[in-house]
Amino acid sequence: MPVAAPASTATADLSDPIVEQHRGLRIHLDALWACAAAMPVDDDEASRWRCELAECLDVLRADLVVHFAHEETGGGFDELARQLPHAAAKLEALTREHAVILDMVARLLGVVAADTPSGLVAGTAQVVERLRRHEAAENELLLGAVADELGVGD
Ligand SMILES: [Fe+2]
Repeated sequence: MPVAAPASTATADLSDPIVEQHRGLRIHLDALWACAAAMPVDDDEASRWRCELAECLDVLRADLVVHFAHEETGGGFDELARQLPHAAAKLEALTREHAVILDMVARLLGVVAADTPSGLVAGTAQVVERLRRHEAAENELLLGAVADELGVGD
C-alpha cells in the first residue's frame, strides 16, 4: 500500500508577497538612483531635477510604508520567524531598521529644495545603499526559508 505524502505545510516560496514587493522596490530604487545621478550642471536644470528627485523619493516612501507594514504587521516577518526561529534576533533588528530607513527618506525629502545638488546625491546614495543592504539581508532569510521547505542540505 502506498504511503501518503504528509500534508504540505510549505509556505515559503518565491511568489511570496515580500519577494514581489522587493522586486518593485528594486525598480523604484534604480529609478531614484538614475534620477540622482542625472545631477544638473547648471542652475536652470536644478529646479526640475529637484522636483524629479522629490517625486522619486515620494514614490519610494509610499512603497516602503506599504512594504514595511506588510513585513511588520501583515504577517510577513511572523511567517519567517515561524519558519526560521533562529533568525528572531535578525528579524527584530531588520524591523528596527525600517524606522531608520523611513527617517532617512523623510530627512532627504525635507532638504530636497534647499541642500546642494552634491549633498542630495550623497544623501540619496546613503539611502540607496542602506536599503539595498537591508533588502539583501531579508532576501537571504527568505532564501533560507525556501531552502528549509525544500529540504536543501537534509
Ligand atoms: Fe523588505
